[in-house]
Amino acid sequence: MKALILVGGYGTRLRPLTLSVPKPLVEFCNKPILLHQVEALVKAGVNHVVLAVSYMSELLEREMRVQEQRLGILISLSHEKEPLGTAGPLALARDLLNVDNEPFFVLNSDVICDFPFKDLLQFHQNHGKEGTIVVTRVEEPSKYGVVVYESDSGRIQRFVEKPQVFVSNKINAGMYIFNPSVLSRIQLRPTSIEKEIFPIMAEEGQLYTMELQGFWMDIGQPKDFLTGMCMYLQSLRLHAPERLHTGPGFLGNVLVDPSAQIGENCSIGPNVTIGAGVVIEDGVRIKRCTVLKGSRVRSHSWLESCIVGWSSSVGQWVRMENVTVLGEDVIVNDELYLNGANVLPHKSINESVPEPRIIM
Ligand code: GDD
Ligand code: MG
Repeated sequence: MKALILVGGYGTRLRPLTLSVPKPLVEFCNKPILLHQVEALVKAGVNHVVLAVSYMSELLEREMRVQEQRLGILISLSHEKEPLGTAGPLALARDLLNVDNEPFFVLNSDVICDFPFKDLLQFHQNHGKEGTIVVTRVEEPSKYGVVVYESDSGRIQRFVEKPQVFVSNKINAGMYIFNPSVLSRIQLRPTSIEKEIFPIMAEEGQLYTMELQGFWMDIGQPKDFLTGMCMYLQSLRLHAPERLHTGPGFLGNVLVDPSAQIGENCSIGPNVTIGAGVVIEDGVRIKRCTVLKGSRVRSHSWLESCIVGWSSSVGQWVRMENVTVLGEDVIVNDELYLNGANVLPHKSINESVPEPRIIM
């Protein structure tokens, strides 16, 4: 089976991390976002993944060659000369997707959940129509595509992208399965699948919905990335608790790479991810944070709701909070206070940042 992942543009909303690494390769809970998805697809029987990208990235190409070998699948990169939106990329990859009259998966690249691809395939084959989209429920539906459907059959009556007025709190979770016949609806030009294709399919009774069980998050922005991390770690707690770190000084759900070093008298958690080769010195307090590969947090610092970028260094007695995000190779000097700072790569910070702002 085949799958197309809409990898898209530069991931500007996840800056400063995406200034160093393409969004799909940013580690979410110690694994690149993209690999969470690809591995789940492979488990459901996918053996060819097409990445729809609208920029060139050598790093992405190289990493995908490594993953092809590791997973024993084919990974193609489909490059757009101009961004083709969320439907145009399907037309561009038409020849790769349209084989053997077999359905294929389509995914937004920035969503995380317990991916239900096997169930999705089965549900789709049962109703026999052209497409199925996965839906979930959210508090704030206006940022998403909203779906109105018959609760017993799942048949979608209306699809409204980013509605101005309340329609429903059931939203498009950014995961689909389509029959190849859907390709005849899409032209090779910038097209929004949500605005131009779904409403028509719904009207024709060709679009069904499957409700997602468990957690879901769009992790394309730092604040949501951290919320998604908390949800993912809680899901690990329920389904694979042995992967979480326990012991004196660890509170709640904490994920620690085996190569990380944690000092004495630290208090880590709840909701913390510590990456490969990270060094946490003595007496550090961390909650609700991701610390990426190769970073160091010096003694007696206090971190809450932060993302520490790769190979960065946080000094002694530092306090960082309120979705502070350090890019790659940032140095925060001793005794500083960072409140909601967004620090670009390769910066050295010598003064406190009392109010949220970007440090260039
Ligand atoms: N290849 C390619 N080319 N991919 C693109 C392009 C493009 O021109 N534009 C966007 N994408 C990719 C993005 O990288 C992302 O993976 C996906 O398409 C969706 O785009 P977003 O920009 O993240 O959209 P959104 O989050 O505002 O809304 C979408 O996702 C919601 C769920 O998170 C919609 O699908 C909503 O209906 C949905 O509820
Ligand atoms: Mg998104």
